[in-house]
Amino acid sequence: MKILFFGDIFGRTGRRAVVDFIARKKKELSIDLVIANADNISSGKGPIEKTYNELIDGGVDVLTCGDHIWDNKEVEVLLDDQKKLIRPINYPKINPGEGYKIIEVDGQKIMIASVLGRVFTTEGLDSPFATLDEAIEKEKCDTIFVDFHAEATSEKNAFGHYFAGRVSAICGTHTHVQTADEKILEGGTAYISDVGMCGPSEGVIGVDKDQSIKRFLSAIPTSFEPAEGRGQINAVIVEIGEDGKAKSIDRINELTD
Ligand SMILES: [Fe+2]
Ligand SMILES: [Fe+2]
Repeated sequence: MKILFFGDIFGRTGRRAVVDFIARKKKELSIDLVIANADNISSGKGPIEKTYNELIDGGVDVLTCGDHIWDNKEVEVLLDDQKKLIRPINYPKINPGEGYKIIEVDGQKIMIASVLGRVFTTEGLDSPFATLDEAIEKEKCDTIFVDFHAEATSEKNAFGHYFAGRVSAICGTHTHVQTADEKILEGGTAYISDVGMCGPSEGVIGVDKDQSIKRFLSAIPTSFEPAEGRGQINAVIVEIGEDGKAKSIDRINELTD
C-alpha cells in the first residue's frame, strides 16, 4: 500500500497546492491512500466545513489534526464518525470525536491515528504514549499510520523508538519545517520527525513575515494573516507491505506557483 501524507496544510495557498498535487500526481505515483494534516486549513486555524469539504472533494481520504482542532466551534459536526476528520487521540475523553479511524484499502485494514505531543504544546493532555498503546492493544490492526503532531524533536524521537516495530509509520507534523531524518526504524516502522507544511513558502511558518517580525520586535501579541506569494508542498510517500511493515519513506519538498 502506498500512502501519500501531506504535512500541515496552511490556508488557501496550502489547500489549493494540495488539491492540485493530488490531481496531477496521484495516478502517476500509484497512490492508494491520501492522508493530510488539517491543523491550519482555515487561514491558519483549524477545520471548518468549507475547508474540510474542499480537501475531501479534492481527493484527501482522511484528515488528521493537532492543537488547532478546537479553533472553530463548528468543527464538532466534522467530528461525527461518518466524516473523515480525526482529532488527537489524547485529548481527554470528555471531548467529541475519535482519535483514530480504521478503514479498508484494497482489502488491507489500516488504522490511522492522530496524536498530540505534550512538550511545549497544550496542558492537560493524556499521555500520547499510553493512549496510543491502549488503542493499538484494543484494535489489533497490523497496518497502523500515526501522525504525531508535536513540537519537540526529542519527544518525537522517543515516541518513534517506543512504537518501533509495533506501528507501520510515524510521521511528525506541527513545526511546519521539514526534517531530513526519514528512515525505517528497527522492526519496519517508517519515521520522520516532521513532514513540514503545505502552504505559503515565503512567510514565517505560513504567516505574513512582517507581522511575525513585528511581534518578535515588539513583544506585543497581534493577529496573524497567511503570507501571500508562492506556495510549497511538503509531504512523504510511505510504502507498507501486506504484513504492515514499512518498505520505504520518501520526502517531497516542492515549490508551487
Ligand atoms: Fe501547524
Ligand atoms: Fe500544530
